[in-house]
Amino acid sequence: MAITLREQYLEGFVSSHEMDCMAPQVAAAAAQLRQHTGAGSDFHGWLTLPRDYDKEELARIHAAAEKIRSDTDVLVVIGIGGSYLGARSAIELLRSPYYNALGKDGPAIYFAGCNLSGSYLDEILALCEGKRVSLNVISKSGTTTEPALAFRVLRGMMEQRYGKEAAGRIYCTTDRARGTLKSLADREGWQTFVIPDDVGGRYSVLTAVGLLPMAVAGIDIDAVLAGAQKAMQELANEDFSANACYRYAAIRNILLRRGKAIEIYASYEPRFTQMGEWLKQLYGESEGKDGKGLFPASVAFTTDLHSMGQFIQDGSRNLFETVIDFITPAADLTVEEDPENLDGLNFLSGMAMRQINRRAMQGTILAHTRGGVPNLVLEVPAINEEEYGYMVYFFMLACGISGYLLGVNPFDQPGVEAYKKNMFALLGKPGYEDLRQELLAKLGE
Ligand code: PA5
Repeated sequence: MAITLREQYLEGFVSSHEMDCMAPQVAAAAAQLRQHTGAGSDFHGWLTLPRDYDKEELARIHAAAEKIRSDTDVLVVIGIGGSYLGARSAIELLRSPYYNALGKDGPAIYFAGCNLSGSYLDEILALCEGKRVSLNVISKSGTTTEPALAFRVLRGMMEQRYGKEAAGRIYCTTDRARGTLKSLADREGWQTFVIPDDVGGRYSVLTAVGLLPMAVAGIDIDAVLAGAQKAMQELANEDFSANACYRYAAIRNILLRRGKAIEIYASYEPRFTQMGEWLKQLYGESEGKDGKGLFPASVAFTTDLHSMGQFIQDGSRNLFETVIDFITPAADLTVEEDPENLDGLNFLSGMAMRQINRRAMQGTILAHTRGGVPNLVLEVPAINEEEYGYMVYFFMLACGISGYLLGVNPFDQPGVEAYKKNMFALLGKPGYEDLRQELLAKLGE
């Protein structure tokens, strides 16, 4: 278990002397993180979480997941941003993007509170019809509008259906002591799980935020934590030449300084698609501030070679690709010989889909690098719980270090407030009257 960084496709894009220059900078950034001297040091808890996780809380997560698996057909997970993307991406990667259709051994899991669409919520309600339902509402602040509103609607449905018994079907993951959700949970007697004070939303996948929905989906969360702990130990290696995470952080910053301002996460496994979304939040929200940062994008190949492939090969040359290469897929098929060969595909007979996909990957990397797009490859041996835990820790650590290399606070998100203020003002929330007048005038209303 480990991630191997392949740097051979960076030739001509990143030179060895740039890497040498970067080594002491990475060491300084890592020290800011490990000695808690960098900006946002109140939110460094994720760094040691895989080792220091509250074992009693973990036992409660296991017990709640068992109960949900035994008395529930549909679990609705309510949350947004860091309070939902981790669980969703883990379920799709480790079980299947078709988990709900295939997931015979566990309840269906739907995600709500991650948008403000009435039709989306209406469909979630429809999916709950005639089913035994439980809710897991997740919000660190306990006040985020999207999940709060979805929870109001879904809680209404639960209370109408189950009366007082609804309380035994609502699981709340939030702050230890603060926030509306915590007060409500205490008043109503819902079981609560804690998001530690020193772990921010997008770094919280290895807390109850991610672990409870994962366990309900039948994912071995002990193995996830074991993988993360292995990463925590291995990636503490201060030898720059041997630390794939440190080198990845260095390379993406060198490329940014060379004008490659867009990082595209690319995988050839469709199961990785939601993890691309998780990565976009992790890096976008952590680095995109103070007028700086790489813009994170993601593609699912080979699908997107037939859409974004043209742009990547031939468009603006401000991109680089980070390819996540799973050596062993979750399952495989072999192409059979067809005596008629009408489709002309017999040249592939006897090959595993994995081999064909690999050739597509290699061909694409060579084409894209020749087209002026640097590619770095992160090789992951397999798709399983340990590797997943290792990967999330790897990416969170690289993100923290990259943020400090860039000179930003990778643990805050002040920019998110701008839309909220305008939305509240336009919706007539008390306290926003002046801004409301100003915005309505701009809208010509
Ligand atoms: O990373 C973050 O802090 C954010 O993306 C939050 O996770 C997101 O805004 C949801 O916040 P909360 O969990 O407080 O509802």
